[in-house]
Amino acid sequence: MIVLGIETSCDETGIALYDTEAGLLAHALHSQVKMHAEYGGVVPELASRDHIRRILPLVEAVLRDAGKTLREIHAIAYTQGPGLAGALLVGTSVAESLAFALGIPAIGVHHLEGHLLAPLLEENPPPFPFVALLVSGGHTQLMRVSGIGRYELLGDTLDDAAGEAFDKTAKLLGLPYPGGPEVAKLAERGKPGALKLPRPMLNSGDLNFSFSGLKTAVLTAVNSAEMNEQSRADIARAFQESVVEVLTAKCLAALQQCGMERLIVSGGVGANQRLRESLGNTACEHGCEVFYPRLEFCTDNGAMIAFAGAMRLQGRKAEDYGFTVRPRWDLAELGAQ
Ligand code: KG4
Ligand code: ZN
Repeated sequence: MIVLGIETSCDETGIALYDTEAGLLAHALHSQVKMHAEYGGVVPELASRDHIRRILPLVEAVLRDAGKTLREIHAIAYTQGPGLAGALLVGTSVAESLAFALGIPAIGVHHLEGHLLAPLLEENPPPFPFVALLVSGGHTQLMRVSGIGRYELLGDTLDDAAGEAFDKTAKLLGLPYPGGPEVAKLAERGKPGALKLPRPMLNSGDLNFSFSGLKTAVLTAVNSAEMNEQSRADIARAFQESVVEVLTAKCLAALQQCGMERLIVSGGVGANQRLRESLGNTACEHGCEVFYPRLEFCTDNGAMIAFAGAMRLQGRKAEDYGFTVRPRWDLAELGAQ
């Protein structure tokens, strides 16, 4: 089965073709980062308009790359939410109308399920069950994953997401949007131990997170030191160390609580090299293994949506899609409105 995946939940138009037999056939992405950078964050109306401009040329490019035609697609998967309403509407309306015209099923995918399953696109994917850390701009969640659609929330952020904390810290340090990679780059030049920031909820005894206090601690540090290139780098490093230590400790606690040895990490913050290093070391010490999507699939992309859609479709019957007739239909079954 060949599935076209469409992702338009935020500021990336991601398109991909996934074949359940042959794997990922092609994928393409247009990032709006440059366009929004001028405003210091995503402007929803601009995002929707840009998705409209990019989506069909990207679908054509992906089909060309894969050497396929529209007629060879068996289903279309699109991000139905969560995300920006206007942006989601672009992907949804293109997917639904294309599927209707082609007479094939369209399936709405949960954006986070896409992130969660993205590591399964790689070679040697982890078998179920595993613990998943979802760390993006909007979410910081630990889940127990027993199979497709079998997700149990173990812990969540009580306020800011980890990626959001990176973005806000970047702003406080005068770095451009999106802040995560910028803070990580600056942190490399920070002196180890020059400054220690709090480790929020490290010893809370549960698997929840809180990052808004850390952002306030960054603000206090920015206001109380003379800002130069070195002090900014020291703050970036201290901030990153704090987030990484908390995320690592909670991942280990989640693995131990579930009695599991496999962790998958997904979402934009999963691209952070310092986090990968820390999780890798801790996993190694405890006989566990960590799985990631390739770097370009840590952030939003069409491949994870095509894949999640394909997994969902494989478990469904043909009559779940399109319309059916009811040759035998008792009037009394109708019920009142
Ligand atoms: O998954 P994603 O592309 O979009 C959401 O669904 O939110 O994640 C974007 C988030 C942003 O907050 C960005 O600053 C963060 O991921 N991010 C990083 C890195 N690369 C992206 N955070 C820390 N280190 C990175 N290398
Ligand atoms: Zn995302």
